[in-house]
Amino acid sequence: MKVCIVGASGKLGQYMIEHSLARGHEVVGVCRAQSVDKLERFKDRITIVPGPTDDRAVIAEAVRGCDAVLTVLVPWGMTHYASGTARAVLELSAPRARLVFSCGWHITRDGQDVYSKKLLTLVKVGGFLAKLARVVDIDDQVAACDLIFKSDRRWTVVRGSDLEEGPSEGLPIWREHVGDPALASNLTRRTDFALFMVAAAEDDGLVQKAPAIVSRAAPSAQQAA
Ligand SMILES: NC(=O)c1ccc[n+]([C@@H]2O[C@H](COP(=O)([O-])OP(=O)(O)OC[C@H]3O[C@@H](n4cnc5c(N)ncnc54)[C@H](OP(=O)(O)O)[C@@H]3O)[C@@H](O)[C@H]2O)c1
Repeated sequence: MKVCIVGASGKLGQYMIEHSLARGHEVVGVCRAQSVDKLERFKDRITIVPGPTDDRAVIAEAVRGCDAVLTVLVPWGMTHYASGTARAVLELSAPRARLVFSCGWHITRDGQDVYSKKLLTLVKVGGFLAKLARVVDIDDQVAACDLIFKSDRRWTVVRGSDLEEGPSEGLPIWREHVGDPALASNLTRRTDFALFMVAAAEDDGLVQKAPAIVSRAAPSAQQAA
């Protein structure tokens, strides 16, 4: 499989490169020009396309011939970076390509998610302050996901819990909605979030779904099992 990773130089992106290479995939990575050095250890094994991920020419070049496009949606800045990135990927990828996007539990597809007071406050207050400081625009990540949810492409939106570093605990479990008791522990290793993204590209059962994930080793997941 030929896989394009959009946002390849971040922590999640680098884990996705590792998992994709381990599965024998051919990898094309897109990252900002100033971040290319972060991919030094992969440079002989992947193709790097430098540039902003919301630049249509950059995305058109990177996704050419790809069977899957794995996109890190980040709400950085006030220039609609996340929605511009999502739009470019949706419009320029091959018609049958699997499109997998990352975001957090705060994204809801159908309004059926049930959130803790803590998470609601964090998103509301944190999002407001970050927007005020013009650093992060969470509303744009919401707009990006709305574009995806309305699309008839073969997409999956993977909604991550809180993340931690550490060795893999295996493929996370998922549920349709936040609030499901199996997700209550709200913690996943970042490498396993990446593993789920890469595995989702090969799983047609996840087409047009927005799985909310948690580590399979989390107490809530163990209890549900
Ligand atoms: N952090 C969490 O606890 C958490 C929880 C749940 C879900 N998620 C989701 O997981 C995904 C990855 O998040 P992460 O926190 O682990 O971050 P990450 O993988 O390190 O990725 C951060 C990305 O943001 C880019 N970036 C940083 N500053 C930027 C700027 N000013 N303008 C444009 N791009 C910029 C980075 O590119 P450069 O390498 O070029 O800087 C990198 O691609 C996201 O979709 C996030 O919503 C995160």
